[in-house]
Amino acid sequence: MRSLLLVSLVTTLLFGCAGSGSTKTASEPAGVEESAAATTELGPRVQALFEANCTSCHSEPEPAGQLDLTTAVASGSLVDRVSARGNRRLLVAPGQPESSYLIDKLEGTHRDVGGSGARMPRGDDPLSDAEVATIRSWIASGAQR
Ligand code: HEC
Repeated sequence: MRSLLLVSLVTTLLFGCAGSGSTKTASEPAGVEESAAATTELGPRVQALFEANCTSCHSEPEPAGQLDLTTAVASGSLVDRVSARGNRRLLVAPGQPESSYLIDKLEGTHRDVGGSGARMPRGDDPLSDAEVATIRSWIASGAQR
C-alpha cells in the first residue's frame, strides 16, 4: 500500500510537471475504491481525527497557524485554501492528496515541497499510517463535507 502510494506520487510528480494542469484527471492511488457508504463516512472520521489530535492548538481564540480545525470538514475551510506559510500550496486540493499540503504536514514531507515549520501534530507522535490513509481517502474522494 505504502509503496503503491509512493509510486503513484512519483508518477504524478513526473507527469504532472510534463502536462501542466493535467493532474486533475490522474488516476487515484489504489485503496481509494471505497463503497459509497464508506465514502460519506470519511468526513466525520477526518473531523474526529482533527478533534483528537489537532484542535488543542488549532482552535479559537488564537488558532495555531491561523488555522481553525474545529469545523474544518463541515465548513470546507481547508479546501482550495492556500498555505499561510509561503509555499503557495493548497492545504487540500480535492481529488489530489498528493498535491495537498495537509498531507505533507502529516507525513513530514512539507519541507520537500517548499514548506516550513513542524510535522503535525506538532510536538506529538505522528498519526498512524491508517489515520493518514483515512485523510488521504477523504481528499481523494473530493473532500466532501
Ligand atoms: C501543539 C500545537 C499543535 C498541534 C497539536 C497541531 N498543530 Fe498544526 N500547527 C501548529 C503551529 C504552531 C503551526 C504553524 C507553524 C508550522 O507550520 O509549523 C501549525 C501549522 C499547521 C498547518 C499549516 C498551515 C498553513 O497554512 O501552512 C497545518 C496544515 C496543520 N498545522 C495541521 C495540523 C493537523 C492536521 C494537526 C493534527 C493532526 C495539527 N496541525 C496539530 C501547532 C499545532
